[in-house]
Amino acid sequence: MEEARGFIGLIFWLLITGACSSSFQFLNNCTYPVWVGTLSGAGSPSLAQTGFELQPGQSTSLAAPPAWSGRFWARTNCSTNPVTGKYSCTTADCSTGKVSCDGSGATPPATLIEITLGTNGGKDFYDISLVDGFNVPASMAPMGGKGDCKVTSCPTDVNEVCPEELRVAEGDGTGVVACKSACEAFGDPRYCCTGTYGGPNTCKPTNYSKVFKGACPLAYSYAYDDATSTFTCAGASYVVTFCP
Ligand SMILES: *[C@@H]1O[C@H](CO)[C@@H](O)[C@H](O)[C@H]1NC(C)=O
Ligand SMILES: *[C@@H]1O[C@H](CO)[C@@H](O)[C@H](O)[C@H]1NC(C)=O
Ligand SMILES: *[C@@H]1O[C@H](CO)[C@@H](O)[C@H](O)[C@H]1NC(C)=O
Repeated sequence: MEEARGFIGLIFWLLITGACSSSFQFLNNCTYPVWVGTLSGAGSPSLAQTGFELQPGQSTSLAAPPAWSGRFWARTNCSTNPVTGKYSCTTADCSTGKVSCDGSGATPPATLIEITLGTNGGKDFYDISLVDGFNVPASMAPMGGKGDCKVTSCPTDVNEVCPEELRVAEGDGTGVVACKSACEAFGDPRYCCTGTYGGPNTCKPTNYSKVFKGACPLAYSYAYDDATSTFTCAGASYVVTFCP
């Protein structure tokens, strides 16, 4: 009986880690710790972890089932306030008061790594998005898939070229820790691609989106930046690197 259960457990383990699923490996190549957040899209189950710490040089892998969709981001400077006992992060906080994000997304600005896995060996679609601003450089590298399978990356520290009116300064006001999108900073439909600007033919690059695109040509710089920012690969696993 015990053996049978062990055998069934092994088969189940092979099923979830083997050929019919993908995995994501997260590597922190930054000189500072990051607290990764994972959020599943509508209809996709949560991954085994929705938030975890990675010290510089550390990595963690998570398995994902076929057709999974969701996003990843890095939170910075997370700590528990000794007075209030509340856990929070300076950038990309998911506001749960703990390391797990439990279905909550990143508070912008946040560099987002987005992916929709294919079904039955179909194509995965993935991208790095600065539509909600930027906080940490990131890359997404497919491993062992079929098709175009290019690495997408925003390796530049956009905080260093962030226009003054989009900057988020650190607590003591000395450095830029994140860069807002123009949509978030000004709420203008022209920057948000809403209202009369709500479509690919009416929403065009702006002087602000061009700053992001100039720094990271492979990443989404505004909502309809699909042509140069969406990547595909079939049946791959992925390595997400922060500060590639
Ligand atoms: C980290 O957070 C603390 C408060 O939570 C803040 O005082 C400090 O400036 C932050 N440091 C950075 C680098 O953002
Ligand atoms: C972008 O253009 C607006 C006017 O349309 C101007 O006020 C702003 O200073 C410009 N910003 C940058 C970073 O070029
Ligand atoms: C880690 O960062 C260094 C620069 O700080 C870079 O040279 C190296 O290629 C990065 N490694 C990975 C795996 O991205």
